[in-house]
Amino acid sequence: MAKYEIVGGNRLEGNVVISGAKNAVVAILPATLLVQGVCRIENVPNISDVRILLDIIRSLKAKVRWTDDSTVEIDTTEVEYCEPDPKLVTQMRASYYMMGALLGRYGQAHVALPGGCNFAARPIDQHVKGFLALGADVTETDDFVDIKAGPDGLHGARISLDVVSVGATVNIMLAAALMEGQTIIENAAKEPHIVDLANFLNTMGARISGAGTDTIKIKGVEKLHGATYAVIPDQIEAGTYMAAVVAAGGDVLVQNVIPKHMECITTRLREMGARITEYDDSIRVVRDGPMRRITVKTMPYPGFPTDMQAQICVCMAIANGISRLTESVYETRFFGYCTELQHMGANIVINGKTATVTGTDQLVGNTVTAKDLRAGAALIIAGLAAEGTTTVKNIHYVERGYERLIEKFTQLGASIRRIEE
Ligand code: EPZ
Repeated sequence: MAKYEIVGGNRLEGNVVISGAKNAVVAILPATLLVQGVCRIENVPNISDVRILLDIIRSLKAKVRWTDDSTVEIDTTEVEYCEPDPKLVTQMRASYYMMGALLGRYGQAHVALPGGCNFAARPIDQHVKGFLALGADVTETDDFVDIKAGPDGLHGARISLDVVSVGATVNIMLAAALMEGQTIIENAAKEPHIVDLANFLNTMGARISGAGTDTIKIKGVEKLHGATYAVIPDQIEAGTYMAAVVAAGGDVLVQNVIPKHMECITTRLREMGARITEYDDSIRVVRDGPMRRITVKTMPYPGFPTDMQAQICVCMAIANGISRLTESVYETRFFGYCTELQHMGANIVINGKTATVTGTDQLVGNTVTAKDLRAGAALIIAGLAAEGTTTVKNIHYVERGYERLIEKFTQLGASIRRIEE
């Protein structure tokens, strides 16, 4: 296990370059299995979730190699249907996209249930609802999901999701791209990474329209061909660095972003008092004076992302006045980090879906433990803003989703180092 040691109090200044979007690339990489050929995916973050997913794809006999620091070439010519290695599948959450990819390519899938951050119950009933609607028989055990074509075969279908689900929307798109007939997903997720997957599939010859709206149409095609595609910048990584500047103070140019994707975050940080300037592909964040309290409710895109809940909570913890933070996607997400922040002097009272955060002048360094990816990111931000030294343990969670974090924060003037325990 490893930990980060942070000496707080340094202003953050300079430039940070955002990597490719984790939640886009973990959907795009399984999509390469839909073709028998070669795909080149650019702007791929070298993070543990990606490395595990590439090993899962290798376990299906695909040839996978990094052609440079951020480009992956995947040759699926020799791929044959088999069960992805369960030891790898259970190490991350997005491995469940192998279900949609294998069902779409081979008409069947036998995949272990995923692992990953367990800050909340993360059911897959909407994924199963989609597979059943597409004509599959689905058998679920405590460890596996087994999906086979039903007696009437696989076919396009109209699927109305009961919950706006990123994962279910992705899995249905992967399953339906090569399926005969038209599939319509209603109440679909609209996140930038859904649009990125649809753009990649269309680059390979799929016929998907409506991605980014709540209704996505997929006209199944006979065959897809290999393609080269660059993943969009990571909205949540960018938001994390922006929140760090607001919490620790400073003046940072966040580069390689799509400002439109950041609006839901930019508006809230501006409300707190940050001075934010948007350029074509970068955003400058300046925070000099005191921050104002705000009220935030997390919502599916284009609302304020649940994956930024923990990070904005740290900003609230050192703002003037009483802020309110309501979680509408994962009710139990607060418990991944609020207790740790309280050990650093934060004044947070959780009541059901809402946390009331009373700003204090200063957080105080302490030894804290990350319990999931974004909770860990928030504790790092708290450490940067706090007086004294903070040790964040279990940072393997953080390294699942943040590429070269130590290097990027160090370049901004932070005092942060990684220690193997
Ligand atoms: C994706 O998770 C992201 N992960 C999560 O980011 C993110 O928090 C989440 O979307 C919401 O934006 C990846 O993209 C790999 P959902 P996912 O299905 O797909 C309920 C991070 O930090 N639901 O959109 O698992 C569910 O319980 C990670 O990068 C069902 O009820 O989320 C939740 O309340 C953490 N049944 C809501 O829908 C289902 O079958 C949204 O979940 C599926 C979901």
